[in-house]
Amino acid sequence: MSEHTDEVTRALVQAADAARFAPSIHNTQPWRWVVRAGRLELFGVSERQLREQDPSGRMLLLSCGTALHHAQVALVAEGWRHEVKRPAGDPLATIRPLEREAIHPEATRHFQMLQVRRTDRRTVTDDAVPQETLGHLVKVAEDHGAHLHVLDRDQVIELAAAVDQSQRAQDSDERLRAEQAKWVGGDRDENTGIPASALPEEVPLTTVAERDFQTSGTLPAGSGHDHAATYAVLYGTGDDAVDWLRGGEALSALWLAATEQAVSLLPLSGPVEIPSTRQTLRGMLSGTGYPFLAVRLGTLDPAHSAPPKTPRLPAGQVIEIL
Ligand SMILES: Cc1cc2nc3c(=O)[nH]c(=O)nc-3n(C[C@H](O)[C@H](O)[C@H](O)COP(=O)(O)O)c2cc1C
Repeated sequence: MSEHTDEVTRALVQAADAARFAPSIHNTQPWRWVVRAGRLELFGVSERQLREQDPSGRMLLLSCGTALHHAQVALVAEGWRHEVKRPAGDPLATIRPLEREAIHPEATRHFQMLQVRRTDRRTVTDDAVPQETLGHLVKVAEDHGAHLHVLDRDQVIELAAAVDQSQRAQDSDERLRAEQAKWVGGDRDENTGIPASALPEEVPLTTVAERDFQTSGTLPAGSGHDHAATYAVLYGTGDDAVDWLRGGEALSALWLAATEQAVSLLPLSGPVEIPSTRQTLRGMLSGTGYPFLAVRLGTLDPAHSAPPKTPRLPAGQVIEIL
């Protein structure tokens, strides 16, 4: 192998490795990477798809999209200009490094955020996210081919009703509950799923309810409410597999940008998982787009300790080098 080929392979392995930190529905990490000469391929893993909760695979695609964006952030932080193709089949995407260029400090900062970002289910403080910061986050979503619709007060109430309706629909589905119990809670010794340490001791009383995982956690969540939180819907203009993959890339970019601004982002995907409430969310966008998920944005009390990191599958299980 030439020195250049070695260098490219090393960068691709590092990118796939950094993508392990990406967020995913119930921490299923439903992705697999193949490193080939000069390119990195991303595949979805159907054994880690939530068959009951996510039969259409939309949440799997969003999750794979976050991993795809994480890999790109890692490549840019190493100075690699690259191209991405998204056949959105088998593979879902291919990344090909082109040449190296000077490393921008911004790229290094983005890369650091991969390690810092968490799903934070603690309550938010009474300090609202500043308008200027919201404007920046809206732009980040746009720069990544998606849109962020910030909800007004009436729409927050509408979202609360949709969240409640989707939660009740999911609670009444026995098979879905059994599937969720396999992925969430307890002292898990697997490297997937959501451990009790990442879940609040009690689901906080808020206007828009957090997802009720039907198991008690150990995270002290604080006694705040969500009065000062901002709710928004991340959406795109298409409903094909490639749109959901790109939606995941936008979600990752948005989340990393929020983390950099000390804004907590909590995804609320329940209402998108149920067709009737997905339609309600579409209505909030006046039918102009396809909602990927709702998000809660807020500031956190620094006095509360951050939730611990959730586990990840070892590199050997998600990266194959050919
Ligand atoms: C597509 C998607 C949907 C998610 N939906 C929810 C949700 O509805 N409620 C929630 O509490 N967390 C949700 N999460 C957060 C995941 O549970 C979280 O990313 C995963 O457990 C890994 O933890 P981490 O983000 O702290 O690394 C979602 C994440 C993704 C990528």
